[in-house]
Amino acid sequence: MEAYKKLLLGNRAWVRERLAAQADFFQKNAYDQRPEFMWIGCSDSRVPAEDVTGAEPGELFVHRNIANLVIHTDFNMLSVLQYAIEVLKVKHVIVCGHYNCGGVSNAMRRQDLGLINKWLRHIKDVYRLHHRELETIDDAQKRFDRLVELNVVEQVQNLAETSIVQKAWQAENRPVIHGWVYDLRTGYVNEIASMRPGAKMDDIYRFEWPVVEAGEG
Ligand code: CO
Repeated sequence: MEAYKKLLLGNRAWVRERLAAQADFFQKNAYDQRPEFMWIGCSDSRVPAEDVTGAEPGELFVHRNIANLVIHTDFNMLSVLQYAIEVLKVKHVIVCGHYNCGGVSNAMRRQDLGLINKWLRHIKDVYRLHHRELETIDDAQKRFDRLVELNVVEQVQNLAETSIVQKAWQAENRPVIHGWVYDLRTGYVNEIASMRPGAKMDDIYRFEWPVVEAGEG
């Protein structure tokens, strides 16, 4: 059997399993979604968002890219974010990194990877921002682990710096932004950072909107 056929057979088995547990599962899901969470994760095949969180279809609105980056000119990520916040009205945005991330590891090396250099450059910037702390860590694995964590912290900041998040914070007091790290070695996810509506940030990144008086317009 060709390898890919395993996936189609897996799909048939999954449909049977779902229907056995809940006969109207697909009808219920077919016309609407109301996820409370947006997930920004790494493309890594070992970190499937629903599996590691025990979430069901319909619960997570997902965006994944190499090393779970939030880049302020990435229209793909920004479109997912805007839709999640303005249309789906998610209450939480989660950035989930993971230890032993290939993207972070390659960003620590000098090898030329072509186009991917441009993407990983953002992680090199995170390294430079935190080089003092990172260079006090002698153990290479521990330094790598710490850069994975700092990368997540910076992506949480990057989310808060978008006008999309700030507008929702001001108007609707949501979403909460979470920075998580998944440990491939144990299976556990831990929260290492979070920002609630109105959280402080560097002043230069703050947007302000005029307050509309009642009766106006
Ligand atoms: Co990764």
